[in-house]
Amino acid sequence: MSRTDTTHRRIVLASRPVGAPTAADFRAEDAAMPEPSEGEVLVRTLYLSFDPYMRGRMSDAPSYAPPVEIGATMVGGTVGRVVSSRHSGFREGDLVSGFSGWQSHAALAGDTLRKLPADLAHPSHALGILGMPGFTAYTGLLDIGRPRRGETVVVAAASGAVGAVVGQVARIEGCRTVGIAGGAEKCRYLTETLGLDVGLDHRAPDFAEQLARACPDGIDVYFESVGGAVFEAVLPLLNVHARIPVCGLIAQYNADG
Ligand SMILES: NC(=O)c1ccc[n+]([C@@H]2O[C@H](COP(=O)([O-])OP(=O)(O)OC[C@H]3O[C@@H](n4cnc5c(N)ncnc54)[C@H](OP(=O)(O)O)[C@@H]3O)[C@@H](O)[C@H]2O)c1
Repeated sequence: MSRTDTTHRRIVLASRPVGAPTAADFRAEDAAMPEPSEGEVLVRTLYLSFDPYMRGRMSDAPSYAPPVEIGATMVGGTVGRVVSSRHSGFREGDLVSGFSGWQSHAALAGDTLRKLPADLAHPSHALGILGMPGFTAYTGLLDIGRPRRGETVVVAAASGAVGAVVGQVARIEGCRTVGIAGGAEKCRYLTETLGLDVGLDHRAPDFAEQLARACPDGIDVYFESVGGAVFEAVLPLLNVHARIPVCGLIAQYNADG
């Protein structure tokens, strides 16, 4: 990603999207290479986690987190390699995770970085199964969903970063696990690769009927990431004392009303 040794590239928010974001809402800029101050580390980005929450940061509507300002670099979790360090805990070559955002290099406070073990099977795992999505799935399902052996767990956005972990953990817990995804290929991935009991396509015209057939004993845990039509199909099937970890409502993230 580096341009030269003296410049770096960043993607800034050029305008606040209305509806689905387009390329025109962003701008690529080359700027002077950041200089780390005392306590900071210059990091070269290797991997950027591209997450649904970023849509919220593009908006200035009230939220749990401040928006990205117009002209500012888009935020995001990253894995990178230390280029130079002015923090005693890091040295050149270390692999770290942090929040560099959408840019090739960043000077970050060392205290905001996590050093990654050299024997990590793949550095990007720190952004997936061992990072924010994996942690979200694990705690959301086990602490809030509290699935019990033999119960039926339904997972929305089941082939995504969070849902793929939720479904697999539910299977490990001994639950009948129904995953919902868009399209036949993703549904095959749910059953053949992730080992879920059923994969259902939320775009099928008879999706609600398919879901009812796949859950003959009702639904005990619904891991919600979507909202909209998927939630409407789930609602009548919920058992008394069902649990719903509300992780996200992605069907509404581009709504402009
Ligand atoms: N609370 C937290 O701390 C936290 C942390 C991480 C993520 N989340 C939330 O968890 C959810 C999933 O995140 P992720 O990182 O796993 O996302 P991801 O990997 O980007 O997957 C998102 C998937 O959502 C599905 N989707 C999008 N619009 C939809 C619609 N209208 N109806 C049905 N499905 C739709 C799409 O799958 P198909 O192509 O299969 O339809 C899409 O690939 C999001 O809502 C996110 O905001 C919350």
